[in-house]
Amino acid sequence: MNTVEVYNKKFEISIPESAILERVRAIADQINKDLEGKNPIFIIVLNGAFIYAADLVRNITIPCEVAFVKMSSYTGTVSTGHVKELVGLNIDIENRTVVIVEDIVDSGLTMKEMLELLGKKHPAAIHISTLLVKPNNLKVELDIKYNCFSIPNDFIIGYGLDYDGYGRNLRNIYTIKVDSIN
Ligand code: IMP
Ligand code: MG
Repeated sequence: MNTVEVYNKKFEISIPESAILERVRAIADQINKDLEGKNPIFIIVLNGAFIYAADLVRNITIPCEVAFVKMSSYTGTVSTGHVKELVGLNIDIENRTVVIVEDIVDSGLTMKEMLELLGKKHPAAIHISTLLVKPNNLKVELDIKYNCFSIPNDFIIGYGLDYDGYGRNLRNIYTIKVDSIN
């Protein structure tokens, strides 16, 4: 399947599954070395990171815990405006080494908010692990220690990432075709 169609938009393969898995294993190996003895907690950001996280943590060989969160937005008072909160974190991260597992860092604003919200819980350290980064779109400074792939600004789907809910189940990563953008 070299091209797929979602809502009349065509996408073509940009990173095949084999290349993804090879890179995810390499990142896991690096984490195994760096965080040996740290007993890390992997905090998986739902929904998009679920497939990346499943492959990543199965290649982690040091003792670790796995937890899941969602970032949910709600509209606060007029003065606070648009607020984001963390939902579902059911583990105490105080004095622990945390690895955030994210699907993609685009503007970086979501990750920045996540760092602030997790930081309030006083972990010993927070590291970022993301499947993808769009470096040309970053609007904030982020120290991303474990990044599998840097990609152009084009919209992608597959391997957990969606277009309006669809495409998460695709095994490869697909990029929207230029003639498909309207
Ligand atoms: P940020 O706050 O701009 O970094 O937004 C990151 C979020 O936007 C990711 O967690 C994704 O949910 C979504 N996103 C950004 N780029 C893409 C893409 O190319 N495909 C699918 N989702 C994307
Ligand atoms: Mg995400």
